[in-house]
Amino acid sequence: MKKSISPEPFFPAMPVVIVATKDGDNINFAPHGMSGQLNYDPPLLYVSVIKNHMTAKIISKTKKFSVNIPNTEVLKKIKYCGSVSGAEVDKSKEFDVFYGKKDVPMILKCPVNMCCEVYETIEIKDMIVFVGQVTEAFADEECLLDDMPLATKVDPLICTIQGKYYKMGREIE
Ligand SMILES: Cc1cc2nc3c(=O)[nH]c(=O)nc-3n(C[C@H](O)[C@H](O)[C@H](O)COP(=O)(O)O)c2cc1C
Repeated sequence: MKKSISPEPFFPAMPVVIVATKDGDNINFAPHGMSGQLNYDPPLLYVSVIKNHMTAKIISKTKKFSVNIPNTEVLKKIKYCGSVSGAEVDKSKEFDVFYGKKDVPMILKCPVNMCCEVYETIEIKDMIVFVGQVTEAFADEECLLDDMPLATKVDPLICTIQGKYYKMGREIE
């Protein structure tokens, strides 16, 4: 028997990403679940950010950001960065960063890093969806198989709408 439920979109799980931004000398980090890939050529991804968050303000200004795929080791830091705003506290020391060709910080401790330039923005109510074109990407060598990151080696952190965190399950086929 089916029961009618809320039309709020339900997806069983979201891989957590950490969006890193930089405004002048000020670096900020915030975890995001509403994020995903959009296109391969050009390489596009999206992150949906609440407008009044520091992350949205910095990306709107600089048109640049990085998407970092954390592993389960940094869960504590993720919870902290997701509980306070860069508008109130300095989160810049939470992670060590490195840079590619652009002045966009990427997180050393995250196994996969994607440096993005804003390709398009879509404003929906109190959210801004930033579509980013990935201009450079990096990965820890030990996570690669034929130069592609392997999800099981990345050990991604999965979250659910109930605020629970999981590791990735085992391969079934
Ligand atoms: C697991 C997790 C997922 C989150 N997903 C999103 C998201 O998709 N969009 C968003 O705007 N905020 C999301 N948040 C909340 C922001 O990370 C949080 O409000 C953060 O403090 C914003 O920081 P900022 O103001 O420095 O940008 C998430 C938080 C956690 C812990």
